Amino acid sequence: MENIVASASSQIADAGHENAPRRSPPGTFVIFGGGGDLTRRLLVPAIYNLACAGLVDDHFSIVAVDWTDMSTGQLQQNFHDALKNFVNSRGTEAVALREDVWAWMSTRIRYVRGSFEDEATYTQLAAEVGDENCIFYLAVAARFFGAIVDRLGHSGLAHETDGMFRRVIIEKPFGSDLASAVALNARLLRSLRERQIYRIDHYLGKETVQNILALRFSNGFFEPLWNRDNIDHIQITAAETVGVEQRAKFYEGTGAVRDMVPNHVMQLLAMTAMEAPTSFDADAVRDEKTKVLKAIHAVGREDVVRGQYGAGTIKGEPVAGYREEPGINPQSRTETYVAMKLRIDNWRWAGVPFYVRTGKRLAARKTEIAIHFKSAPYALFRDTPVEKLTPNIMMLHIQPTEGVTMQFSAKIPGPTVHLGGVRMKFDYSEWFREGPSTGYETLIYDCMIGDATLFQRADNIEAGWQVVQPVLEWERDPGFLHFYPAGSEGPKAADDLLARDHRHWLKIGS
Ligand code: BG6
Repeated sequence: MENIVASASSQIADAGHENAPRRSPPGTFVIFGGGGDLTRRLLVPAIYNLACAGLVDDHFSIVAVDWTDMSTGQLQQNFHDALKNFVNSRGTEAVALREDVWAWMSTRIRYVRGSFEDEATYTQLAAEVGDENCIFYLAVAARFFGAIVDRLGHSGLAHETDGMFRRVIIEKPFGSDLASAVALNARLLRSLRERQIYRIDHYLGKETVQNILALRFSNGFFEPLWNRDNIDHIQITAAETVGVEQRAKFYEGTGAVRDMVPNHVMQLLAMTAMEAPTSFDADAVRDEKTKVLKAIHAVGREDVVRGQYGAGTIKGEPVAGYREEPGINPQSRTETYVAMKLRIDNWRWAGVPFYVRTGKRLAARKTEIAIHFKSAPYALFRDTPVEKLTPNIMMLHIQPTEGVTMQFSAKIPGPTVHLGGVRMKFDYSEWFREGPSTGYETLIYDCMIGDATLFQRADNIEAGWQVVQPVLEWERDPGFLHFYPAGSEGPKAADDLLARDHRHWLKIGS
């Protein structure tokens, strides 16, 4: 294949300069689970990046709440170490921690020690935050979500008065099935209004995921083709090479379906398939996302493949099978892979299957959306029957490469007319100088300024669970689990799922 690589232009990067983002309003960022891993690895570096970009108000502070015995000084040291680690692990360029920014931040960090279920913690917290604007970030295990929000309600901490906001950011997993997600939403809404709740899905913090809407709705030439008349099918892949890592306990009770599909995969699908919103107002966007998720036809058992990895090889190294991993039940039936064929019952997508798959210990780390266009009806070229034409595929690369590729046919240079497949590629890193990012900056900043577009509304979450609910009900059925070697493309049954429709998956590995 020949490559035609688009070249860079600085003018584009400068466009929209006059819309430079404004500073956040003043306020306190309260982190429940402030001593934990998520805080150190992602939240504190994200706030640091926002501060480096001049987006955080001077009147800002971080209050970390956790049960560990630790002083504010120790916590600050902890965060400082984490930041140093973060800036040092940022790729090839040696970057130093900006000590001026750290000096600014460190004086604004406080620690509150206490249990998340103890009323006294909230009394102490209320004294710390006074009548400031507050964001409460729940970086804690899911079992605490309801308990913390109840207490924020009882203590008055969730109460907004004129001109002052109280917002709560909730991590995933949001429920473990449809019923528990509905129950959790109802519980949160006893203490909070919907507009105070920011349900986070870190996939929506990825530039390339946000770019799907920009690509579709700010260009004139994609949207007219984006429908059943021109698209044959769509493949959505979220493949990982990592295994269960240190999360055996969580993963055994969760599995790939709950962990990835109602949230991340459904977000990718919704961004790809939704109708154009009437504006980029948070509710307009979320209305359209929910509508398209609700239009997904109830999945049939024959359209779902659950898989679990066995021993195999990743990057040349032998790795254990899932059942041999530490902390995993040797008879476990938890899936580490799932593939599904989904149909969307609406005018735009009727008859266009969406094949989605996600799994751990696959051949490569790759998240992408492949839009397969219908082939040309008739090939004018001698010796090149239609079925030999290169399929027209538009690939949206989410990670690790970020960009868009178009695949089509072109004449191979020479005296005779022969066609070959070529690719035209837009690579994010070639066009734009990307700032350092954890993927949480946009989300945190948006919450600070009260923009909920990239957060999930209750109906959005419930629609995602609705799609996978049947699969959860069949998970104990014998035979509903296939095995695949670590480092492979996934179970053979997933290939058969597409072969039945005379299609095949794009390769995950190179
Ligand atoms: C998390 C899942 O939400 O997303 C993990 O719990 C998964 O199991 C991760 O590894 C994938 O995120 P990313 O950004 O690495 O694709």
